[in-house]
Amino acid sequence: MDIAGKVAIVTGAGAGIGAALARRLVDGGARVVVADLDADSAAKVAGELGAIAVGGDVADEAVISTLIETAEREYGPVDLYFANAGIGGGPGLDSTEDQWSAAIDVNVMAHVRAARLLVPGWVERGSGYFVTTASAAGLLTQIGSAPYSVTKHAAVGFAEWLSMTYGDQGVRVSCLCPMGVDTRLLSGDLIPDAPEAAALAIKAVTTAGKVLSPEEVADTVVAAMAAEHFLILPHPEVLDMYRHKGADYDRWLAGMRRFQAMLRG
Ligand SMILES: NC(=O)c1ccc[n+]([C@@H]2O[C@H](COP(=O)([O-])OP(=O)(O)OC[C@H]3O[C@@H](n4cnc5c(N)ncnc54)[C@H](O)[C@@H]3O)[C@@H](O)[C@H]2O)c1
Repeated sequence: MDIAGKVAIVTGAGAGIGAALARRLVDGGARVVVADLDADSAAKVAGELGAIAVGGDVADEAVISTLIETAEREYGPVDLYFANAGIGGGPGLDSTEDQWSAAIDVNVMAHVRAARLLVPGWVERGSGYFVTTASAAGLLTQIGSAPYSVTKHAAVGFAEWLSMTYGDQGVRVSCLCPMGVDTRLLSGDLIPDAPEAAALAIKAVTTAGKVLSPEEVADTVVAAMAAEHFLILPHPEVLDMYRHKGADYDRWLAGMRRFQAMLRG
């Protein structure tokens, strides 16, 4: 897949990985709709890139419809959808029902709703590309946050299912699973109301591997899309960790318990 000339929607593109993806796509010749809950951030990024901004909650089906209609009206049919917006959520068993619902809505159902609107048209055209931003937490786990771990696993599961079900009808799917990336999410937004759990989660991520820049991640995404790889791993060591988990689940869990105890000191 060559991104030049393609029409793309990037959610959560007002900051962090989404903003870097939007910039990389525009640099590669794509026409981009920048979507974010924070309309001012979306407008700022879009203004810098000569792109179009749409503000709103991308877990809301009406907002996703507006994104698609705007892209079609201004640029033409949507070729690429980056389901990138994501939130952390609560800490552990003390996470509230609202924290669970919000994480499920933004990290999973936003993807399901976008696919529901886009995939039938892509199957008809025989082409389309859905890029999920999950996380290494979706393959491994996230120390400190149950809602984040669970919803990122679900995001990986939905991306796998999409690829398996529509891959032979021209629909490409990739799933981005980074560890630490230098964004607001990693500086406390991951678990906003529980500073102790947030500190533990951040320590786990920064101890496990290098913290990459959003630009490095965006470059990796575009390279992986050119090769049409499903799993996008900006931290290649995640594949080894995932293999260890698959090879011996009990041993992996014991290792994770030891790692967590070490982080807690
Ligand atoms: N930063 C990391 O270390 C890291 C690691 C793995 C995965 N991720 C994932 O990368 C994605 C992007 O996160 P980031 O690190 O760039 O964080 P970020 O906080 O810098 O950016 C996220 C953006 O998404 C927007 N957003 C949140 N909820 C939204 C909603 N309902 N509708 C529209 N926009 C919404 C926010 O306003 C923000 O601009 C997330 O899915 C996150 O889970 C991040």
